[in-house]
Amino acid sequence: MADAFSPVQIGPIGLRNRFIRSGANEMMVKASLPTRSLLELHRAIAAGGTGMTTLAYIAISRDGRTFSEQGVIDDRAVPHYRAITDAIHAEGAKASAQITHGGSFVQHKELSTRRAMSSSGGIDKMGVMMGRVFQRQMTRADMDQIVGEFVAAAERAVAAGFDAVELHMGHGYLLNQYVSPLSNKRTDEYGGTAANRIRYPAEVLAAVKRAVGDRIAVLAKINLLDGVAKGATVDDAIVTARALEAAGADMLVLSAGRNIEASWQIFGSPMPYDDLAAMQGGLLAKLQFKLLKATTPKNLAFRELYLLDAAKKVRAAVSTKLGYLGGVQSLEGAETALDAGFDAVVMARALVHDPDIVNKFRADRSHHSQCTACNRCVAVMYGPAGTYCPVVDNPIDVALNQIPAGEDIRHAA
Ligand SMILES: Cc1cc2nc3c(=O)[nH]c(=O)nc-3n(C[C@H](O)[C@H](O)[C@H](O)COP(=O)(O)O)c2cc1C
Repeated sequence: MADAFSPVQIGPIGLRNRFIRSGANEMMVKASLPTRSLLELHRAIAAGGTGMTTLAYIAISRDGRTFSEQGVIDDRAVPHYRAITDAIHAEGAKASAQITHGGSFVQHKELSTRRAMSSSGGIDKMGVMMGRVFQRQMTRADMDQIVGEFVAAAERAVAAGFDAVELHMGHGYLLNQYVSPLSNKRTDEYGGTAANRIRYPAEVLAAVKRAVGDRIAVLAKINLLDGVAKGATVDDAIVTARALEAAGADMLVLSAGRNIEASWQIFGSPMPYDDLAAMQGGLLAKLQFKLLKATTPKNLAFRELYLLDAAKKVRAAVSTKLGYLGGVQSLEGAETALDAGFDAVVMARALVHDPDIVNKFRADRSHHSQCTACNRCVAVMYGPAGTYCPVVDNPIDVALNQIPAGEDIRHAA
């Protein structure tokens, strides 16, 4: 049986064990700079025994932010992120930066262009709520610019002491807007077949890999399936994984679902739409959540390792390192995934619920997460404290809530 506590090599970096904290938007950012809450959270996750922790959802540019209050990895942010990676390293873990561009998901008013851009033009489903009715199809010049922004972001991640970057190609953000046929309607060599749809994200990854070389690992988070009719399928994911392997990915993290069309598919359990509607003002947002609730499959019951069957099909098709993600809640679950050939397990909610869970697995093989997959952590994400588990009072959440927002963290490590 695989040993979840054995070290693993991911490209140029070595992890002390097989547990990775998945990128799960912390919302612990002020004026696009990370706060001390973010530092203390990741310090706690690292002290809790994970091999690598991922800082979620950092925008590659100000225009690439989905929300105003989202971290941006610009020059000014480098020393702030350095304080966090120093704190993570002091606890013996590695640090990864998930870097992303929202594409047509951009929902802030400070966008420097009239329309948000995406793989294709058409109605801007997110922008429409703030008066941007249409999005525009990216030109070659736009595509080159975004490649450059991903490369510059990865270079800054190196400068900030990260051990890895994870390019977000899932859940509906810009690079996924190329991969998924739900948003990619292009008729050139970047649209149509699965091989064409992954072409641009693979170009981005290859450019990042060329730039950073062996200084850090380059990961990508991809969708196994979108989970809705006419969306990307597992067969598409096999094509995607092969293309990213050829482009030089050091590891792929396998996820699923789309934020708008199938958020329940990301989590394997229904979203708390009533809580989400209560957290977000505006009639349109409330109506949107009502609609999403109506389109969620009935009788959707969470089960541990809910993406394993789909993930195994990709495992059989590529030899690159793969991180299994989706409902890991116990050491037995982690070992089942590792025995199926995955190189690491990637966990979000079990670690939101308890940052110390890896140490608990080590102390007691039978320890099982008490996370109920209610997804209320997603609803509270937009509140003043950022992401935490509202079901339990764990010591780190209590401590984080006492940290003043926006405190300078450069000397806190
Ligand atoms: C509060 C919260 C925020 C999340 N934010 C992100 C994110 O910023 N980027 C991302 O790729 N996935 C995000 N996710 C999805 C998780 O990374 C993961 O794919 C999903 O929760 C399934 O893994 P799990 O069963 O271990 O929780 C988020 C999940 C949660 C619970």
